Amino acid sequence: MSTSLVQLGPFQLKHPFILAPMAGITNSPFRRLMRRLSSSMVISELVSATGIEYAGAKTLDLLRFHDEERVLGLQIFGEDTEHLCRAAQYIEKLGADFVDLNLGCPVPKVVKKGAGSAMCKDPVSLGKTLSAMVKAVRIPVTIKIRTGWDAQSRNALEVVQAATDAGVSWVAIHGRTRAQGYSGEADWDFIGNIKARSSLPILGNGDITTAEAAVHRVKTYGVDAVLIGRGALRNPFIFQQAEALWKGESYDFPQSSDYIQLLHEQQKMLHEIYPARTAMIHARKFLAWYSAGFPGCHEFRSQVFSIPEPEDLWQEATQFFEKRTRERDLKFLSQPFLMGGHG
Ligand SMILES: Cc1cc2nc3c(=O)[nH]c(=O)nc-3n(C[C@H](O)[C@H](O)[C@H](O)COP(=O)(O)O)c2cc1C
Repeated sequence: MSTSLVQLGPFQLKHPFILAPMAGITNSPFRRLMRRLSSSMVISELVSATGIEYAGAKTLDLLRFHDEERVLGLQIFGEDTEHLCRAAQYIEKLGADFVDLNLGCPVPKVVKKGAGSAMCKDPVSLGKTLSAMVKAVRIPVTIKIRTGWDAQSRNALEVVQAATDAGVSWVAIHGRTRAQGYSGEADWDFIGNIKARSSLPILGNGDITTAEAAVHRVKTYGVDAVLIGRGALRNPFIFQQAEALWKGESYDFPQSSDYIQLLHEQQKMLHEIYPARTAMIHARKFLAWYSAGFPGCHEFRSQVFSIPEPEDLWQEATQFFEKRTRERDLKFLSQPFLMGGHG
């Protein structure tokens, strides 16, 4: 099986399996963790270009990153071309490796203003914005889109064409329309068709929950790489597993020691960067996702959300994964969850 490097713009990645951007989730500590666990690059959650313009402390916090994350993209959204260009320049100055524009967000608050997935309704005007952004910075500009606004207007091919003409470096496509939100299934035939007709690298995205499916999507649909979002929350080892399969090797299911190491690293990084209360909020979410499918996960979840002290929480989690890791029900990995988000 192929083990060749994956070329995305100027970056050579060792394999095509990449953590998808997720608001409130792909913060710096989780991105670092996923790089350690083999995601071949990482992207921040969406950050408002207008927010960057006004330099709000909370907005600027979202742009913090660690060198360990490279290759790293910071993602922005907004409807104002000047704000987007200045935000891209700010991101370049911060030292990110590329700037990604969110053109897939379906959330009413964002699309009402004409940002996110609404920008793809008019590929001509979008092309002008993208051209201006590409001219404004030296780092690659990339975009993440959906297949279209609704079933009647799946214009991703036109959007990819506009992006190509503007000098965008690659396009990631979540295989659903804006109208679908997170319902139905990602349309991989549609993504494969765009890939076949495009000269730009195409990253496919949607509903990958196992390493086997990740490799299958790349090989079947010919995409340059795939983004994996929710699948990485229930199986944080998915990138390592996919990398092994990609190289023609097999992989072992994670042992309790793998989970304990992961918890240890995540605890350290969360508490390094966030105040105790915020670190606890993040810890609880991740522990609930990681534990899905293990026997006793429902009781564990309710404990996780009621234990007040961080040390007790991590202790409880360590004990849980020490005892339960070998008995997981893998069906849980493909059950739908988190049916809402910003892309
Ligand atoms: C909670 C959540 C937050 C998300 N936030 C973002 C975001 O900030 N930017 C973005 O481009 N996509 C965002 N997405 C979309 C994901 O990147 C991805 O396109 C989508 O979840 C489908 O992939 P998956 O089935 O592998 O999860 C988000 C998704 C979820 C579930």
